[in-house]
Amino acid sequence: MVKGKLLCIIACFTTISFGVDYTTSVSSLYNEGSQKVVGRLLPTVEVEIIEKVGDKVKITFEGYIQDGAENAIYFVPNRRILVAGITKNTKFDYEVVDTIKDNGKVWKKIKTTFLSDEDEFTKDVNMLYKQADTMYVDNCSICHALHDKKEFNANQWPSIVNSMLSRTAISKQDSYILIQYLQKNAKDMQ
Ligand code: HEC
Repeated sequence: MVKGKLLCIIACFTTISFGVDYTTSVSSLYNEGSQKVVGRLLPTVEVEIIEKVGDKVKITFEGYIQDGAENAIYFVPNRRILVAGITKNTKFDYEVVDTIKDNGKVWKKIKTTFLSDEDEFTKDVNMLYKQADTMYVDNCSICHALHDKKEFNANQWPSIVNSMLSRTAISKQDSYILIQYLQKNAKDMQ
């Protein structure tokens, strides 16, 4: 038993690194003790990996919600930059870290915990953004000059990318990282 445990500890530390990480793609969220997907985490989201649980990892992440619309967790108030979407009938616990008023609306900054698949994370967020930038330059300057990231607001970028997507070789899956990159560098983000 002790030997098995020791081996696990060594193996676990070599395959996953605990601490601050970033999602590399759209990742599934689960509640403990269930294989049912109860939500999706978007790419480039900062998470903290707490521990390994079976074939999954327990993570915490933060974001902003509004009363009555808790299932959409956003990166900042008043910008539709999604951190995670939790399925409609899923109740989940969260800790309110802060409450702020922005543009007359009340936003709660929350911290929540879910399980996720363990191979969806990296410590190197700059590598993710570099990948997104290459995707942007290679695919979005073929027919017209590349548009400046600061030409549009965070809320405008998703529909622009979605309307152009079928004209490019970018997969739907990859489009999520491109959208996050453009939104986080948009005109109304510092
Ligand atoms: C196959 C050619 C083609 C590719 C590839 C392409 N676009 Fe376009 N884009 C167009 C055309 C044509 C227009 C003019 C308006 C229209 O037809 O929708 C346009 C217009 C635009 C506009 C202006 C919209 C506005 O309202 O001012 C933006 C921004 C844009 N594209 C972004 C992108 C992005 C981002 C990508 C990569 C994901 C991309 N385009 C890839 C052909 C392309």
